[in-house]
Amino acid sequence: MSSYDVIVIGSGPGGYVCAIRCAQLGMKTAIVEGRETLGGTCLNVGCIPSKALLHASHMLHEAQHNFAAMGLKGKAPSVDWKQMLNYKSDTIGQNTKGVEFLMKKNKIDWLKGWGSIPEAGKVKVGDETHAAKHIIIASGSEVSTLPGVEIDEKTVVSSTGALELAKVPNKMVVIGAGVIGLELGSVYKRLGAEVKVIEFLDAVTPGMDAEVQKTFQRMLKKQGIDFQMGAAVQSVDVKNSKAKVTYKLRKDDSEHVEDADIVLVATGRRPYTDGLGLDALGVEMSERGQIKTDGHYSTSVKGIYAIGDCIDGPMLAHKAEDEGMAIAEILAGQKGHVNYNVIPGVIYTHPEVANVGATEQQLKEAGTDYKVGKFSFMGNGRAKANFAGDGFVKILADKTTDRILGAHIIGPMAGDLIHEICVAMEFGAAAEDLSRTCHAHPTYSEAVREAALACNDGPIHS
Ligand code: NAI
Repeated sequence: MSSYDVIVIGSGPGGYVCAIRCAQLGMKTAIVEGRETLGGTCLNVGCIPSKALLHASHMLHEAQHNFAAMGLKGKAPSVDWKQMLNYKSDTIGQNTKGVEFLMKKNKIDWLKGWGSIPEAGKVKVGDETHAAKHIIIASGSEVSTLPGVEIDEKTVVSSTGALELAKVPNKMVVIGAGVIGLELGSVYKRLGAEVKVIEFLDAVTPGMDAEVQKTFQRMLKKQGIDFQMGAAVQSVDVKNSKAKVTYKLRKDDSEHVEDADIVLVATGRRPYTDGLGLDALGVEMSERGQIKTDGHYSTSVKGIYAIGDCIDGPMLAHKAEDEGMAIAEILAGQKGHVNYNVIPGVIYTHPEVANVGATEQQLKEAGTDYKVGKFSFMGNGRAKANFAGDGFVKILADKTTDRILGAHIIGPMAGDLIHEICVAMEFGAAAEDLSRTCHAHPTYSEAVREAALACNDGPIHS
């Protein structure tokens, strides 16, 4: 029986980052993964492949819509779907091999197979049982389906099947206007499909700042995505590879049917803990199937910890990574910690959407006295030159102390721009601190500074 200080179960961003940190801190570490390649959902069938398709389809959109105006003449490219899928697979391969290299570099053993925990201190993989002082569960999440909707990954697909379609469909119905539905809906819209999104609520992307939600939906509509809001999908029937989606409008209970070649089910994910043996161990779970942990990622069973999508909090790769590093540091006797108030969220559509901290609605509910600094990308020279003037930066700051409480960006490179605000928030900065920081011209970041200026004396370029 081999023996380790730490065995991490699951090699997604939470698990592999945790394993690397454990090894860096001097712990003998192994990682358990049953897939053929490391990297979990994110690298194999999630964040990374979807970003490859978002990039390629955005390039096509640029060629079709903006090249001529920039003086770039010639026939717009057409879609070679097989090659686009190859490009996507190559991207996955480079990333998963990269993680394998990092495991070797850090002398982390990859225990190949699906792991279970027969008792605290032991992890079983295949026929072998390994000993570990600490076991960290990073088993991630899986697609959660709807009653009446059966995913066959051919006609009715989850995000996994949507990354491997046989061809670009003529018509795609997306169930759910969350992050997955809108990112993948965007991809297929740009590649030429008719896309209709059916959403239960009255606004897209639940939990986001209401002003951003409205602007975002308006922009996506302008790009040709059709929305049916306030509608609960009841069932999907498939006959001869064609689907009929039945939904009911919440306002009057009327029933409607929408035909589709492909139906993408994007109604959320749930924790994945199958086969770990947690029941028998007596590990406490929440009603939502999450592993319950204390403030230090410890489960109810001593020596067993959990991080990432399988515990409470947003299902985001970077949240899992940070928890992975924190638990490694805690086990090494350091003060590992995650600041849950400063976890950015990004939607990688075009334009991108990014947020951190509180929304205006949350501040109102909490009775916080706040001010809003907003700046449109229309006033940003770089954005105008790049046909990217749509959108804005909005910073929310405490009315008395000027401390930044949240930020919401919709516009070019929003997913990168948000990080200067994250760093500022981490340091407890005021909006004035951001606005007194010199920002290079001409950059999109100037819009962030202008929004910070708008919190006080006012922006320069509007
Ligand atoms: P989601 O929770 O973001 O959105 C699901 C949507 O489906 C909600 O708006 C909900 O109201 C709607 N819905 C539920 N039942 C419905 C019904 N019967 N009929 C119509 N609409 C219905 O879930 P999503 O997009 O599947 O994403 C899953 C997780 O993965 C999320 O936690 C997300 O944060 C994460 N993710 C993050 C990404 C990123 O950070 N860029 C990319 C992809 C996923």
